[in-house]
Amino acid sequence: MSRAWHVRPALPEDLAAIEAIAPVARADAERRRSIVDEVAAGEAFVAVVERAVVGYLALEHSFFGRAFIALVCVHPGHRRAGVGTALVRQAEEASRSERIFVSTNRSNTAMQALLERLGYERSGVVGDLDPGDPELFYSRLVRGAPEQESVAADRSDLGLIDVVRRSPHPEPWAEGDNIPWHEPGFSERMLREHLSQDHDAASRRSEKIDRHVAWIHDALLGGAPSSVLDLGCGPGFYAGRLAALGHRCRGVDFSPASIRHARGQAEAAGWNCTFVLGDVRQEDFGRAHDLAMMLFGELNVFTPDDARLILGKARAALRPGASLLLEPHTFDAVRSLGAQPPSWEAEPSGLFADAPHLVLSEHDWHAERRATTTRHYVVEAATGAVRRDAQTMQAYDEDEYRALLQGAGFDAVVMHRSLTGRDEDAESGLFVITATARG
Ligand SMILES: C[S@@+](CC[C@H](N)C(=O)[O-])C[C@H]1O[C@@H](n2cnc3c(N)ncnc32)[C@H](O)[C@@H]1O
Repeated sequence: MSRAWHVRPALPEDLAAIEAIAPVARADAERRRSIVDEVAAGEAFVAVVERAVVGYLALEHSFFGRAFIALVCVHPGHRRAGVGTALVRQAEEASRSERIFVSTNRSNTAMQALLERLGYERSGVVGDLDPGDPELFYSRLVRGAPEQESVAADRSDLGLIDVVRRSPHPEPWAEGDNIPWHEPGFSERMLREHLSQDHDAASRRSEKIDRHVAWIHDALLGGAPSSVLDLGCGPGFYAGRLAALGHRCRGVDFSPASIRHARGQAEAAGWNCTFVLGDVRQEDFGRAHDLAMMLFGELNVFTPDDARLILGKARAALRPGASLLLEPHTFDAVRSLGAQPPSWEAEPSGLFADAPHLVLSEHDWHAERRATTTRHYVVEAATGAVRRDAQTMQAYDEDEYRALLQGAGFDAVVMHRSLTGRDEDAESGLFVITATARG
């Protein structure tokens, strides 16, 4: 990627060049005057190639006292070369507020794609500014940002050359620890998959969950009103059904859309449920539950240290003699995923992005660490920019699961074929473990 340009503060002598690349300035005298003011205020930046201005960004701090990117434009001949990224990053450096805001018309899909790639999250929509073309507002925390935001920025800053030059065998978890369930845009798209009754990909279809919940209610809770902790609860399909059977539930998940959905359902139905938006590695689980569960293979995506941490926290949150219910992947499922050939999909809109994109996926089995890493390279069709989402799954054999649970304070470890307890309901690659919290 050419780096022949550089970014510097805009100067009054740049005005004519800025007007030449900013169509809004040519069409609108008021906008032209604003640019003069922005430059005079010392909060505007230009990208320059051999002394020619090829990009312009105006920053303000009058948006509810927060930094606001008022305008970004890039000369058509210099688009897709990183100029917009460099200008936005410069504005983030110059931001005097923790959070920086920016808006763009819905019709400007290239700007939306740039913002999403740079880790911006949608904050709202204003409909009455440009008739027929709503203004979408985005923001990003640029100071005191949680670690996961900088990871998001890192993995967003790729080009196709990075795909070509990737290492063939990634270190497990080195390129990210999970698909971005917790990112607002992704979580909204994932919620559609959870709710879909066409497939069992994100959550199972309702009829299957009904049968699982009947087994949990009868076989694990003996039909008696109990306190249930659901780790990685998603939209609350299991917790909600258990609450409808008279149990009290606490669900923890870091997907904002899933938790919003679960809370909405709980409120509407009057379930005795608390849904907590948080990471199971950090969140408080509460105390004295009768059952803790983590379903649908999620335990394997954590590093073995994190899996031990989560199971230890689950043990501490259970009363002695209470039950643990896990539905992990079999060793063979994780290993054979790592042997799958690469694949790709072209999507006008899909789970990984709203705008047209390609998803290039590949898997790698790390024999020494006994873990499979799956990488998804998401290539934005409009710009060719690339984001990488990587997820690693640890393979454990049955003895290793047993040792993991015993080490975390559980006894009476029992393996089952399915979440109905019946062999005929077994699902490929998954099985079920129950255990008892040691006294
Ligand atoms: C495969 S889905 C299963 C959802 C639900 N248990 C079900 O079976 O319908 C996995 C869930 O785990 C959540 N998750 C993954 N890692 C998490 C973490 N570190 N903290 C909280 N939730 C997490 C995801 O957001 C997602 O909702």
